[in-house]
Amino acid sequence: MSTRRELPSLSMGFLDALVLPLLCALSSVRAAETSKTQMCRNVPGSAGYPNAAAWNALNASISGRLVTMVPSAKFCATRAGGCTDAEWTSAVFRSEIPGAMNQPNWEQGYDLTPPSLCYLNGTTCGQGDDPLYSVEAETVADIQTAVKFAAAHNLRVAVKASGHDYLGRSTAPFSLLIHTSKLLNISFTDTFFVGDQNMGFAATVGSGVHSQVVYQQSKANGRIAVGGSAATVCAAGGYLQGAGHSALAPTFGLAADNVFEFHIVVASGELLKVNSVNNTDLFYALRGGGAGSWGVIVSATFRTFPTFNSTFASITLTATNNTAMASLATLHAKHLVDFDASRSSQYFYLIKDPSSATSTMTLSNYMINQTITQSQEILAPFIKAAQALPGITITASSYTYALINDILFQQDDSVGFNLVMGSRLIPAATYRDSPDVVGKVYQRLLDQGLTLGILGHLVAGGQVAANSNISSAVNPAWRTAKTHVILINEWLDSLPLPQIDTIRRQFQDSQLPIFEQMAGPNAGAYSNEADIMEPNFQTTFFGPNYAKLSAIKRKYDPDDLFIVRTGVGSERWDEWGLCMV
Ligand SMILES: Cc1cc2nc3c(=O)[nH]c(=O)nc-3n(C[C@H](O)[C@H](O)[C@H](O)COP(=O)(O)OP(=O)(O)OC[C@H]3O[C@@H](n4cnc5c(N)ncnc54)[C@H](O)[C@@H]3O)c2cc1C
Ligand SMILES: *[C@@H]1O[C@H](CO)[C@@H](O)[C@H](O)[C@H]1NC(C)=O
Ligand SMILES: *[C@@H]1O[C@H](CO)[C@@H](O)[C@H](O)[C@H]1NC(C)=O
Ligand SMILES: *[C@@H]1O[C@H](CO)[C@@H](O)[C@H](O)[C@H]1NC(C)=O
Ligand SMILES: *[C@@H]1O[C@H](CO)[C@@H](O)[C@H](O)[C@H]1NC(C)=O
Ligand SMILES: *[C@@H]1O[C@H](CO)[C@@H](O)[C@H](O)[C@H]1NC(C)=O
Ligand SMILES: *[C@@H]1O[C@H](CO)[C@@H](O)[C@H](O)[C@H]1NC(C)=O
Ligand SMILES: *[C@@H]1O[C@H](CO)[C@@H](O)[C@H](O)[C@H]1NC(C)=O
Ligand SMILES: *[C@@H]1O[C@H](CO)[C@@H](O)[C@H](O)[C@H]1NC(C)=O
Repeated sequence: MSTRRELPSLSMGFLDALVLPLLCALSSVRAAETSKTQMCRNVPGSAGYPNAAAWNALNASISGRLVTMVPSAKFCATRAGGCTDAEWTSAVFRSEIPGAMNQPNWEQGYDLTPPSLCYLNGTTCGQGDDPLYSVEAETVADIQTAVKFAAAHNLRVAVKASGHDYLGRSTAPFSLLIHTSKLLNISFTDTFFVGDQNMGFAATVGSGVHSQVVYQQSKANGRIAVGGSAATVCAAGGYLQGAGHSALAPTFGLAADNVFEFHIVVASGELLKVNSVNNTDLFYALRGGGAGSWGVIVSATFRTFPTFNSTFASITLTATNNTAMASLATLHAKHLVDFDASRSSQYFYLIKDPSSATSTMTLSNYMINQTITQSQEILAPFIKAAQALPGITITASSYTYALINDILFQQDDSVGFNLVMGSRLIPAATYRDSPDVVGKVYQRLLDQGLTLGILGHLVAGGQVAANSNISSAVNPAWRTAKTHVILINEWLDSLPLPQIDTIRRQFQDSQLPIFEQMAGPNAGAYSNEADIMEPNFQTTFFGPNYAKLSAIKRKYDPDDLFIVRTGVGSERWDEWGLCMV
């Protein structure tokens, strides 16, 4: 997903008038209620939970880098002057708050008994799904100490870089967080060696480095790397472990396809160098095998390319009603092939106006290595045909020619909304053989009512398909896909919990049956931008790789220290990762 243009949002400036039910500060955990034979992590109140002296000793051993965590709304409530709406929705601002997730819904303990909530400008505040303590790691030794402490005390561990995660996997209730946002080293070389093999130009990037920094620093070196369309997504955190899609993916492959090496602290506390020579099974898993399941990444080294100019073209088309939008969607589906020759990419975001019949489709086109004139020629057949459709008007259009580093660079990401998503990788065959189905599916989803929209990404094909022979855990569905399409569902804090629950389940309950008509019944999905409630995540996210990934997990993390929902091995744990099921 990209937040280049701020998404219109139902929740903007409308979070007041809250009446919170009385909630206990520290809610009772299932752990306490489960039978003794069941293996559970220690939580406050458990016999094995560390006492104050143990926490103090941990803190002393990591140079005082242990902090207590508060949800972002509590951070704002206790901050002089509070937080402005602009701050609340800024990913750059939120990245400074250890307890903040980008999407505040992941900080809420909706499913705890009783629910534990902390809303912006609310009157009470529970800890929710926020961890209790965070190790603000600055060194490898800090991470090793934290990992060993958690293992010795049987604690739930959460690992976070930016807190961007759309599935809430970088937070967990009653856990010890290992926060890597201060691992900010970044360096460039033109001779990176794996063993005695010179891999050539590369960047080595700490797991706290934001993508905007990678683009700026690459520019200074005359290079560019494959990265996301975001400001603060961490280039060496969850992004790479999921696969990492990019406007540059059709040209250079997925981000995971371009990695040479990881440095990672695994469950034993050991620092491992992981590449195509050493720990090759873990190297396979870290490239696409899912975020947060393998250890704490210290840094990653990936390929860089000579930089070049490109055109960014933004075009907004407005449809008078759902039927008009459906015919636009079919036309759009037919014209995606127009991008193939230049290996360009496009983010096509449909946003429904909740207060009228109209909807818009905004096309953010990354025309790789193309001048403005060349880009206009590539886009002309679609635009001409779209203008001829009844009920379709082009309402905005702009072209910028610049260095690709500056096109990908973002000042900030617009976050701070309660949202969940569901997604599928849409096979190239759908667009080639049955583009009409795309329009029909869009029409049905629109008629059913969208809380926000349908966000499409033309980021596959080209080199993503050509890289199918790379041996990594990247879901093979990426290699045959043309697009990655997300349905977003949003809500406001003011909504009653049962209605919030309905929205959280909306993708599985009412959207997927429709969406599957264009994705196919067994389509894969991108694990980083997907639905946390996917029932068959093993196949949907990991395809045929799951058995191999499970074996690698057993080898490097035999005690399941690194468990995230929908991650490898998570079927053995409850939804909070606190008790084995
Ligand atoms: C505004 C926005 C734009 C995005 N754009 C794109 C895009 O263009 N392309 C794309 O592919 N994705 C994109 N994403 C999705 C992104 O890939 C995921 O949110 C990803 O999980 C972010 O990784 P992170 O480490 O920054 O986030 P975090 O929330 O900090 O972590 C995400 C996951 O990675 C794990 N993790 C984090 N740090 C480490 C570490 N040091 N070691 C081990 N595990 C770690 C966490 O445990 C968690 O499971 C976008 C997300 C947002 C919010
Ligand atoms: C850890 O130590 C630092 C420095 O002494 C202190 O400021 C901080 O409050 C301590 N953290 C906790 C959780 O006690
Ligand atoms: C919350 O309070 C802050 C500070 O008083 C204010 O600026 C902001 O607009 C409020 N936000 C909402 C959504 O109520
Ligand atoms: C960051 O780089 C410095 C200088 O090279 C080095 O001393 C330090 O160990 C690095 N930090 C990490 C976490 O790798
Ligand atoms: C493999 O690991 C060993 C031991 O850590 C290290 O000495 C060696 O340099 C590594 N080799 C490669 C190619 O990374
Ligand atoms: C990009 O375009 C500018 C202006 O047209 C030009 O000066 C520059 O050399 C180009 N850069 C590259 C890397 O092609
Ligand atoms: C961009 O075009 C230049 C000039 O034709 C070419 O040398 C370079 O390889 C191209 N780069 C990419 C990424 O296509
Ligand atoms: C939708 O818009 C088109 C084009 O403006 C129009 O012809 C059609 O009648 C409209 N359909 C409905 C159901 O309103
Ligand atoms: C994949 O195939 C391409 C083209 O045939 C080849 O250049 C590349 O080395 C292969 N890669 C692997 C990992 O086998």
